[in-house]
Amino acid sequence: MKEILLRTENLSKSFSSGGILQHVLKNIDLELYDGDFTVIMGASGAGKSTLLYALSGMDTPTLGTVTFCGTCAGEAGSHGASRRDAASRVVSSGDAGSHGASCRDAASRVVPSGDTSSRGSAPHGRIISDLTPDQLAVFRRSFCGFVFQQIYLIDGMSVMDNVLAAGLLVNKDRKALVNRARELFQAVGILEETQRKFPTQISGGEAQRVGIVRGLINSPRILFADEPTGALNSKSGLEVLDTLTRFNRSGQSVVMVTHDMRSARRGNRILYLKDGAILGECLLGKYEHGDEERHDKLSSFLEQMGW
Ligand SMILES: Nc1ncnc2c1ncn2[C@@H]1O[C@H](COP(=O)(O)OP(=O)(O)OP(=O)(O)O)[C@@H](O)[C@H]1O
Ligand SMILES: [Mg+2]
Repeated sequence: MKEILLRTENLSKSFSSGGILQHVLKNIDLELYDGDFTVIMGASGAGKSTLLYALSGMDTPTLGTVTFCGTCAGEAGSHGASRRDAASRVVSSGDAGSHGASCRDAASRVVPSGDTSSRGSAPHGRIISDLTPDQLAVFRRSFCGFVFQQIYLIDGMSVMDNVLAAGLLVNKDRKALVNRARELFQAVGILEETQRKFPTQISGGEAQRVGIVRGLINSPRILFADEPTGALNSKSGLEVLDTLTRFNRSGQSVVMVTHDMRSARRGNRILYLKDGAILGECLLGKYEHGDEERHDKLSSFLEQMGW
């Protein structure tokens, strides 16, 4: 049984502009599971980014809740043993063990559709909107990692320092951070000489891989990626997808938004969002290169969704 990392109940988000209320997310009940590579697809404006922001505490829901399970690195009361270290996950493949003492009891859940046999246990977690501002900041920085379509790095700082700056918000042990950053850089194929460069001196594909390192520096339980290949050429996009796939194989949970089917087939769970609601879900199993059956299954799912 998979462990639940995040759960939403009746999650709704509305925006008001020009006196008109727009319901962007509508009563979403969703569970995200440890170790999954979850992909969110849907037309432009369907609410994908809004959903990511709500899941990760970057934005607050209008109604409903987001509950997270487990502790955050750097949080008072958390301790190292309750968290796996993503650097070791990078090098030790096949680590799919369950963890997180606070997630246990089985509970039936309403899930969008399909196979319920692999569904998880309900988190005895905390509702994000109940957190104090300090706790919320810790949640955002250490439970969640982010990779965006455009990676914004600070120009006056080297690539390495950009990553360390994100790490130092959570962990003051600079030496340990440097070691972790080096391991992650190696895992994404960013050489030492590139680590010393400044953001304007690296390519878009390199910047995106630096963004992944920055997103993972605090060993987040979930890495959120919003169209991480959207601004890249085909070769760089493939490198980023391969990197995300490798991290996921090593146990890193990933939630990625994409418009691209080639990217989407890296996921083992595809959610299709339409007009702010989850219209359907497709379970593919873990990515295997050249898996034609997987491609066909995803194609027919997307066709069914009206993509
Ligand atoms: N801060 C905001 N204020 C008002 N409306 C907003 C705000 N953020 C998002 N919206 C609206 O919510 C809807 C969904 O936006 P969202 O960015 O989540 O879509 P998306 O599915 O990520 O689209 P895309 O694929 O183009 O990135 C859009 O109509 C958008 O204009
Ligand atoms: Mg978006």
